[in-house]
Amino acid sequence: MLTAVCRRHSCCKMLLDATILKAVQLLLLLLAEASCRTHSSWCELGCDCRGDLKFTICSRGLFTQLPSRVPPYTELLDLSDNLISIIPERSFDKNRKLRVLLLQNNNISVVQPGAFSHLEFLQKLDLRWNRISVLIEGFSAGLSFLRELQLAHNRLTRLETHSFLHLDALQRLNLSANSIRSIQVRAFAPMSGLRQLHLQDNRLTSLRSGIFSMLRSLEVLNLAGNQISDMEMGVFKPLTSMSLLNLADNNMSTVYFKTFLSIHSYSMHILLEENPWNCDCDLQRVFRKLRSIQRLFLDDYYNLTCAEPQVLRDCRLMDVDTELCLAETVTVLIITFTVVTTLLATMLMGERKRKKKKTTHWTQQWEHSEESDY
Ligand SMILES: *[C@@H]1O[C@H](CO)[C@@H](O)[C@H](O)[C@H]1NC(C)=O
Ligand SMILES: *[C@@H]1O[C@H](CO)[C@@H](O)[C@H](O)[C@H]1NC(C)=O
Ligand SMILES: *[C@@H]1O[C@H](CO)[C@@H](O)[C@H](O)[C@H]1NC(C)=O
Ligand SMILES: *[C@@H]1O[C@H](CO)[C@@H](O)[C@H](O)[C@H]1NC(C)=O
Repeated sequence: MLTAVCRRHSCCKMLLDATILKAVQLLLLLLAEASCRTHSSWCELGCDCRGDLKFTICSRGLFTQLPSRVPPYTELLDLSDNLISIIPERSFDKNRKLRVLLLQNNNISVVQPGAFSHLEFLQKLDLRWNRISVLIEGFSAGLSFLRELQLAHNRLTRLETHSFLHLDALQRLNLSANSIRSIQVRAFAPMSGLRQLHLQDNRLTSLRSGIFSMLRSLEVLNLAGNQISDMEMGVFKPLTSMSLLNLADNNMSTVYFKTFLSIHSYSMHILLEENPWNCDCDLQRVFRKLRSIQRLFLDDYYNLTCAEPQVLRDCRLMDVDTELCLAETVTVLIITFTVVTTLLATMLMGERKRKKKKTTHWTQQWEHSEESDY
């Protein structure tokens, strides 16, 4: 009707256009608001949900438990820097598209069995800086495609046979800065594709052979900052892909040549500084042999210092080793010389005695024959 009335006045037509425009604008606004509301019903207060990027960022949101409304499209979920203390069973059932899950800097002490189950696309799980003290059997259930697991700065004390049971695809495991004292022989066995194992700054004192037995793909093994003083001779033997072995800052005073010789990787760098080396001639011999092996690189050999014997404390091994073995050589020479001289002397004395005997015999015979001539 309005159109009919207005048909004759162009100014009226303009008015009509403006009305339609307004109505459309209003409609759009309403629509936008509605979409916004559905959006926010999937986005927990305190989180930033970015549908375009498939990110959900809930970092520093003062969460004490996992937020319940995380959009199902989320591929990266950042829950770092909160106060979450428990990860209940099947926590991420509605977020099966997750690829990266960040939970570092929380207060997590309990991870219930199956907490991460069904996360078939998860590639990276970050649990650094929490209070996890034990990895229960169900911890890794459902994480069979995980590539990277960060567990540094937790409270782990032991690694058991079932600790990493389902982590078949894991490539990088960071366990540094825990309190790990013991590792059961088959603990690492399920992770046959592991490439990097970081165990620095723990409390290991010995390495039993067999603990690394399935790690044929391992390239980097970091054991620095432990208290390792004895290693069984074959412990590194299965590691045929190794390129870096870090044993710096431990409690080793000596080492067997065969411990490193047995590693048949193509080329390997070994770090050994900050250990209390007992700089005797045996140690020098071991290092001389090790340095002559082409595929081994003792990168910090020039930095190795002695803790024993007392007179050589803080001296560099490379500065004292020749002297040590020189002393040994001199000792050996002196002993040899003494023995030879004694032998010679004995022989000479024996000879002289024999000669003397012969002469007396002759003289006696001669005297006798002279007597009989008369
Ligand atoms: C962390 O969790 C422990 C219990 O595991 C609790 O006693 C402590 O109050 C929590 N700390 C914070 C800051 O929430
Ligand atoms: C392992 O974790 C420690 C501690 O957070 C960190 O310094 C180190 O860079 C990490 N290493 C790797 C390879 O992730
Ligand atoms: C280092 O090893 C020696 C034995 O070689 C042992 O007496 C000492 O307690 C060890 N130190 C630490 C800190 O484990
Ligand atoms: C040797 O020690 C010095 C000083 O601590 C350090 O700067 C250097 O990087 C070390 N060299 C190697 C090969 O580790």
